[in-house]
Amino acid sequence: MIEEMIMAHSILVKVFLGFLVGGIAIPFLTANNPLGFRKASFIYTMTFQALATMIAFTGVVAIFAGDLGWSFSTILMVIVWAALMYIEIKKYKLIKVANVQKESTFKLMRGAFVKISILQILLVVIMVVLKVLEAKGMISLG
Ligand code: HEM
Repeated sequence: MIEEMIMAHSILVKVFLGFLVGGIAIPFLTANNPLGFRKASFIYTMTFQALATMIAFTGVVAIFAGDLGWSFSTILMVIVWAALMYIEIKKYKLIKVANVQKESTFKLMRGAFVKISILQILLVVIMVVLKVLEAKGMISLG
C-alpha cells in the first residue's frame, strides 16, 4: 500500500514535469489567438491543479499509511508544492484580468507564461534531484 502510493507519487511527479514542459508550447501555439491563449491557459491551470492535488494526496496518504512522520524532506516537498500552487494561482488571476486583445499586453502575458513555467520546472527538477541524491545516500535531508 505504502509502496504503491510512493510509486504513484513518483510517477505523478514525472507526469507533472512533462505537463509543465509541454505547457510551454501554449503561448507559441496561440501566438495569433489571444482568446485561444486565455482559454488554453485556464484549461492548463485546471489540469495543473488536478495533478498537483493528486501529488499531494498520494504524498499525504503515504505519510499516514506508512507512519513516516514529517521529516525535513517531506516538509520541503510541501513548501515546494505550496509555492507551485501559489505561483500558478497568481498567474491564473493575472491572465484572467489582462486585456489580451491589446497586442502589448498579450505579448507580456505570453512572456510571463513561459517565464513562470520555467520557474516551476526548475522548482520541480531541484526537488526531484534532491530526492534522488537523498535516495542514493549522497545527501541527508533529515
Ligand atoms: C503535499 C505535498 C507532498 C507530500 C505530502 C509528499 C510526500 C512524500 C512522501 C511521504 C514520499 C516518500 C518518502 C520519502 O521519500 O521521503 C515522497 C517521495 C517523493 N516526492 Fe513527495 N510529497 C509532496 C510533494 C512533492 C512534490 C511537489 C514533488 C516534486 C516537486 C515531490 C517529489 C517527490 C519525489 C521525487 C519523491 C521520491 C519518490 C521515490 O522514492 O521514487 N513531492 N513524497
